[in-house]
Amino acid sequence: MPDSSSQTKNATVATPTAPPCTLVVFGVTGDLTRRLLVPALYNLRNAGLLPDGFAIVGVGRSDKDDDSLRADISAALHEYIAGPVAGEIEDWLCRRASYLRGAFGDPATYARLSALLDRLEGEFHTGGNCLFYLATPPEAFTEVVDGLGAGGLAAQLDGRWRRVVIEKPFGSDLKTAQALNRALLNVLQENQIYRIDHFLGKETVQNMLVFRFANGLFEPLWNRNNVDHVQITVAETVSVEKRGKFYDATGALRDMIPNHLFQLLALVAMDPPSRFDAHALRRERSRVFEAIRILQPEDIAANVVRGQYAAGTVKDRQVAAYRSAEGVSPQSTTETYTALRLLIDNWRWAGVPFYLRTGKALARRRTEVAIQFKQAPLALFRGTAVDHMTRNTLVLHIQPEEGVTLRFSAKTPGPSLNMDGVAMRFNYQDYFNAAASTGYETLIYDCMSGDASLYQSAQNIEDGWRVVQPVLDAWAADRRLPGLYEAGSEGPDAAAELLQREGRRWRGFT
Ligand code: BG6
Repeated sequence: MPDSSSQTKNATVATPTAPPCTLVVFGVTGDLTRRLLVPALYNLRNAGLLPDGFAIVGVGRSDKDDDSLRADISAALHEYIAGPVAGEIEDWLCRRASYLRGAFGDPATYARLSALLDRLEGEFHTGGNCLFYLATPPEAFTEVVDGLGAGGLAAQLDGRWRRVVIEKPFGSDLKTAQALNRALLNVLQENQIYRIDHFLGKETVQNMLVFRFANGLFEPLWNRNNVDHVQITVAETVSVEKRGKFYDATGALRDMIPNHLFQLLALVAMDPPSRFDAHALRRERSRVFEAIRILQPEDIAANVVRGQYAAGTVKDRQVAAYRSAEGVSPQSTTETYTALRLLIDNWRWAGVPFYLRTGKALARRRTEVAIQFKQAPLALFRGTAVDHMTRNTLVLHIQPEEGVTLRFSAKTPGPSLNMDGVAMRFNYQDYFNAAASTGYETLIYDCMSGDASLYQSAQNIEDGWRVVQPVLDAWAADRRLPGLYEAGSEGPDAAAELLQREGRRWRGFT
């Protein structure tokens, strides 16, 4: 049960309803809208956080109308909301939904959108505020933003706000990310741009900040004096599935490292921000990346591993080799696994390696950050049976388990001095009754409320690409087949060797 001791104050504050606005989704017929956006809007309304002054516009090229969009919304709710769907919320959302058919490159689309927004403002009192959500393929990002600019839709006049949410991938390397930032900033102010990374919508990721900075216990240990190394793992059991075409041109490094794994890295490594606001948080995140030692071409082979899955069995499911997946070249050298060792050259972390790994078709789905503390001296136990002790490890479990574990040594009962590793464990679900969530609720709510703390600045995006760019360059010049690993295993041998060389081991998956 939550601690109700007299010294513990309940830190809950009531969350206000978001300000009125129209949500305009470009690429409304895609998977993201059905699986994540629509259920998130439902959950927000259910929690009393969506205002009455709200409307939705779907923009797309498909031959649809208001009724078919509303039918799609209902179908998405019945498919993705766990448990019975509340009819009044379903009706509430559907009543507010309109479809606008048009090409993203056609100025007429934006003229019609402008007229529709005026009509919705009158009908639903949306205050003229607009959140333009780009759920489109990345090739369309600049076209849509240019269209919004030329159509006068990006202008924040008479106190109304206009914001743009951009999904990943944000560029495919440093140059393209910089070019995209420039194109967006031609039309929009930085504070109108909300670059999303859905990892930051996960409760357990956000909890890393609270865990570190709201508890006096851990922060004094959080540095090179006490930490031996840090492991960040995002292991997936899913294979490339139907995304072969996209994935083969992307690979595990681009898909996961400069965005999702670097979000975890920044939260675990950053210094405390001076305030809990977007500016201070983004600045501290950025300072972590400024301090990362950039890998030189000659360092890449020793510090970065790439692997590709071969046929195997993942949780009783036969998985064919990556190269035989639909949309993937049979000669593909794209990596489906990557591991890297990074050093952060600042006062707090000098000399502490950060090992990151991510891959598809692995033995277990597991996202976690493990802080491995330095070994206590054995001296005290000289002349006893104790020849090794469990190292203290603090694991922040992000998914599918959600919680925190602290491992330490304890004496096993009996007359002789023996020890065993034991764990203290906090599970989210034992303490909190979490409301149903897709992870997008907070992100949408924050954007409507103008809070960009969980979004990325232009600088944050470029920081991430800057760190991985030397690896992209080295791999572009060396298209040898990455080390193979069997689907359902823990990854390629070279990843294990990356740590073994330094007398360390990855945490196992079981
Ligand atoms: C996406 C990647 O951004 O994140 C996918 O493109 C990956 O390849 C996914 O599977 C992982 O997200 P989650 O929330 O399922 O851990």
